[in-house]
Amino acid sequence: MGNKVSEFGKTSKGKIAHIYTLVNGKGMALEVTDYGATMVSILAPDAKGRSKDVLLGYDDVQDYEQGTCYFGAIIGRNGNRTKDAQVVIDGHVYQMEKNEGENNLHSGSEGYSNIIWDASVDEDGNSVSFHHVGADGEQGLPGTFDITVTYTLTMENEVKIHYEGISDKDTIANMTNHGYYNLAGHAAGKIEDHILWLDADAFTPVGQGMIPTGEILPVEGTPMDFRAAKSIGADIEADYEQLKIAGGYDHNFALDKKTKGVEKVAEVSESTSGRTMEVYTDLPGMQLYTGNFIVKEEGKEGAEYTKRNGVCFETQYFPNSINIPSFESCLLKAGDTFTSTTIYKFC
Ligand code: BGC
Repeated sequence: MGNKVSEFGKTSKGKIAHIYTLVNGKGMALEVTDYGATMVSILAPDAKGRSKDVLLGYDDVQDYEQGTCYFGAIIGRNGNRTKDAQVVIDGHVYQMEKNEGENNLHSGSEGYSNIIWDASVDEDGNSVSFHHVGADGEQGLPGTFDITVTYTLTMENEVKIHYEGISDKDTIANMTNHGYYNLAGHAAGKIEDHILWLDADAFTPVGQGMIPTGEILPVEGTPMDFRAAKSIGADIEADYEQLKIAGGYDHNFALDKKTKGVEKVAEVSESTSGRTMEVYTDLPGMQLYTGNFIVKEEGKEGAEYTKRNGVCFETQYFPNSINIPSFESCLLKAGDTFTSTTIYKFC
């Protein structure tokens, strides 16, 4: 299908990173690097069939090593914030890295966004798989964790991300992808005009350190309500404590899932390009993050990204769920297989 592999520069440790390009003959192309199993670009057609790169990212692997935004990366074993960087599993306390104040964010410096994965391409499936065996104690967590992340570009213009992992001890499996989207093009500026529909009746408010308080609050009557589509910017500056704390949206939404299977949970569109992206997942939650903390990043092709230039839809178990008994747990039992699928579909 014209898929290819090319070099993507050398990491600071002297390892050569690669870019895997998948195409589908329908105007879409996906580039993924083995560094962080990171999506580097998504070329997606607009209403007139003209393709543009809609994903924020960098030109070289060293920029990814230095970046702090997790552009396009796979996050694991444990996404989002963990209070005091501590987890209790089977009565043992495990200490993760405190990489954001007292807390852990996105698994710390040994997180999966910072490693080189083993890659293999499946031409027939139009997919590339990334494999990693995490040692017992990696990131401070128990269990040897054997994890594979597969990206498939389908003929239906879907980027499908499938996770499959197994551990020999009870551990955490809460993986996500941290793509920042701008449907007008990665260098097009603010995303506030994007129209968003989100199938979530509730969200998990945050307190100190942006750790969930444990409550699950209805979105009804608040700026968090996207059940009727509205622009991301419509209420983003509202005088609402949760938005003030995060400088915009940076919250986990409790998805209104009907089944445990993969369902459509969000739709985002941009009127000047006519591009629409749908999000499907089998997970209970999704972090809507509007890029509030992007200060000034030199991105691909000389682009400069600043605050709210991209929006993330990070499907996940609720943040800190391992420490909050009322949240569905991301605990993976020894010998059980963790599987999860998230799809970003371009229409
Ligand atoms: C978090 C943000 C954080 C960003 C980059 C998101 O998942 O919710 O608060 O700034 O990741 O680290």
